[in-house]
Amino acid sequence: MTDTNLALQVWNHKFRNPVIPAAGPNVGSGRMVRRAAEGGAGGLLTKTISSVAAPVPHPNMVRFAKDNLLNTELWSERSPEDWFDREYDIALAAAREFDLPLIGSLGYSPEELAALGPRLEQKGVEILEFSIHYLDEKRLTETAQALRSAVSLPIIAKLSPHAGDLGEIARLLDPFVDGFSCINSFGPGLMIDIEHGTSPLGSQYGFGWLSGPALKPLAVRCVFEVARVTDKPVIGVGGVTRGEDVIEFMMAGASLVGVCTAAILKGWHVYGKIAAEAARWLEAHGYQDIEEIKGLYLNRYRQGQEVVTTIEKTAWVNETVCKACSQCEKVCQFDAISAPLKQIAKINSDQCTACGLCVSVCPFDAIEMISR
Ligand SMILES: Cc1cc2nc3c(=O)[nH]c(=O)nc-3n(C[C@H](O)[C@H](O)[C@H](O)COP(=O)(O)O)c2cc1C
Repeated sequence: MTDTNLALQVWNHKFRNPVIPAAGPNVGSGRMVRRAAEGGAGGLLTKTISSVAAPVPHPNMVRFAKDNLLNTELWSERSPEDWFDREYDIALAAAREFDLPLIGSLGYSPEELAALGPRLEQKGVEILEFSIHYLDEKRLTETAQALRSAVSLPIIAKLSPHAGDLGEIARLLDPFVDGFSCINSFGPGLMIDIEHGTSPLGSQYGFGWLSGPALKPLAVRCVFEVARVTDKPVIGVGGVTRGEDVIEFMMAGASLVGVCTAAILKGWHVYGKIAAEAARWLEAHGYQDIEEIKGLYLNRYRQGQEVVTTIEKTAWVNETVCKACSQCEKVCQFDAISAPLKQIAKINSDQCTACGLCVSVCPFDAIEMISR
């Protein structure tokens, strides 16, 4: 354990660390919500409910490229009655026992939100998150307004990357909400099981929505775009699997991060594991409090400081760190690196176009970009 402070005050609630579940089967029942608390999550959230149980196709999840998923889970397969009669009680008991805030996720139409929102408020859920995933863009503000008029709880709008310009959508919704969560899964996409010539999913056309690390750069970009137009808290979601991802999302402007796919594939202890990794990273970099890195990239951008790497640079090998693995030579498309196996890599600066790829490929962090 480190002494670094990970606790945050968001929407007037104390989160013990920034890593919370994002809506999915990882919080698909009261019991799973309790597991998230036991697994070290900094706050809790429940799977999206709507006015009826979702007609979820089966099968509805398939893994690809090791850590990613395509899914067609829609929203909760449990009816709202199941949730109100039993599941929320279990989730709320866990929230109280572990002293964690509980966010209730709901969807989708203005009428559904106006009916479900007050019931969640009455039940004792402290924050609401509504998803725009299946919303017609013309009804976006009407939907947010309907929920705003129905409850006095803080409201978060969960944004979907297929909906369009999320900065613009955040600007439209800002007057009615207290924060944003971005992003939902992206798609739809298609996988084909080539042995059978069929999709592994049971949805129409076999389509599914992408989540996991493949989504992360898209998600970080969306968080940055949303955080640019609002001072309200943003939950960064998409491909968080390790402590460094938390730091990256928070530097882009996130106040908390959500984890779904990693919790499904690796179990409910990932929340605490990721939070502990973030604490270790902060300590190793001389920070005492996670708040210190919040918005670091966003603020540099806002203040007109340099946030991009410029072209006058060239790759440079730290010869004391290079392990002569020759990976950099393999990926250099410009013949600028000479690294025969077991020989320290040499850069030919005249050939180097400063594309930067070798820096991210080197397994030993032995290459960096320096001024020419
Ligand atoms: C199987 C599955 C089910 C999901 N169900 C919901 C849901 O009911 N409501 C919602 O807002 N997002 C849902 N999501 C999206 C996640 O909450 C999250 O936004 C997205 O997967 C990106 O995060 P990740 O890469 O950590 O999974 C689901 C994702 C998966 C993989």
